[in-house]
Amino acid sequence: MQVGIDAMAFSTSRYFLRLDTLAKNRNVDCAKYCIGIGQLKMSVFPPNEDIVTIAISAAQKVMARLVNKNEIDVLIFATESSFDLSKSAGIYVHHFLGLRPDCRVFDVKQACYSVTAALQLARSFVKDNPDSKVLVIGSDILKYSAGSSGEPTQGGAAIAIIVAKNPRLMIVEQHFSTYTTEIMDFWRPIEEGEALFDGKLSAQNYLQSLEITFLGYLKKSDLTPSDIDQVCFHAPFSKMAIKARNKTFADKSIDDTLIYNAIIGNSCSASLYVCLISLLDNSGDDLDGKRIGLFSYGSGSVAEFFSCTVVSGYRHMLSAEENRKMLEDRIEVSFEEYEQFCKNQADPGKKYANVGSIRMVRVENKQRIYERRIAG
Ligand code: HMG
Repeated sequence: MQVGIDAMAFSTSRYFLRLDTLAKNRNVDCAKYCIGIGQLKMSVFPPNEDIVTIAISAAQKVMARLVNKNEIDVLIFATESSFDLSKSAGIYVHHFLGLRPDCRVFDVKQACYSVTAALQLARSFVKDNPDSKVLVIGSDILKYSAGSSGEPTQGGAAIAIIVAKNPRLMIVEQHFSTYTTEIMDFWRPIEEGEALFDGKLSAQNYLQSLEITFLGYLKKSDLTPSDIDQVCFHAPFSKMAIKARNKTFADKSIDDTLIYNAIIGNSCSASLYVCLISLLDNSGDDLDGKRIGLFSYGSGSVAEFFSCTVVSGYRHMLSAEENRKMLEDRIEVSFEEYEQFCKNQADPGKKYANVGSIRMVRVENKQRIYERRIAG
């Protein structure tokens, strides 16, 4: 029995900041951001949008691909931007999607690696329970401190994936290679809203983890690099993925994988899968039956190299036009507005646009209050 990704969708903020605007205001040469790190824009989030609201937006899109929402037996929410140490963010998604009360819900965390962990868990679960479907969500909003070298590599998005038998999009293959090592390259202590990092160490460890897991994958699978048709990397910023490509598949273009990432920024747990959707949506090649190598990296650190094969007829399961429109229709913010968003401040005279149908309206008694948006 084949198990894999039956459907997949993503959402991001309705707002973005141009990186040349950031560069001008930080007295940095624009070319450093646009060419040196390879990013053009980044998603920025208004006070009424958070990891739950964007997750619900992505989940609603993917649920539209199912005949019956009651088919979902498990919901796994992967995030490193959680606002609660106890309650799972997945419970809000379960509530607003109206899933069955006997659906199992929990969160997982391991930096940007967490969706891959959830995907592999879901695959095993479906192998044991062939009639079950699992909804895997990854949702993150990444903030670094203003003026830090990490600032141009912020971003955020949510990915929603349905894992099922006889998938209509991609089969997750059985071979994988993981690598875990204790390292302080990126972390966010409980009391901090912004991530702390050692940029050079993180890039070095990312590449070393790639080398180890890629060789491990080839050994375990008995495949050679020429058996892999396309490759997709976790992309904290586009140049990082290009460096990864140069180390492993220098003869292959990964341009199609980075089209969305270059204008969204680092979406952490969702990043690899946003790159995968970008490839499927934008590749001019017919990817039917092609093997895609995937490299997932989460600081701290855990990495994994694994692969998927594209299912024949996969194009019917894509929403390329909708994805492009969502990104094109975003609203540009000024530098001043970006600074307000960073402090989570709302302009009292302004009604902010949301990507989906749910918005966060206020925090009351330290509880987040969400409500359904009235259309229009
Ligand atoms: P920096 O120190 O500001 O930049 O940090 P730099 O001096 O290294 O320059 C960056 C590149 O721009 C260099 O290119 C420069 O040459 C070039 P490279 O040598 O690397 O090819 N450059 C220019 N190019 C054109 N015109 C110019 C110019 N000036 C310089 N005028 C850094 C950059 C990415 C390190 C920083 O933004 C950072 O630390 N970001 C956060 C950490 C990060 O993203 N690490 C990535 C690996 S870890 C990971 O992926 C996990 C993560 O997603 C978190 C998780 O797992 O949860 C982050």
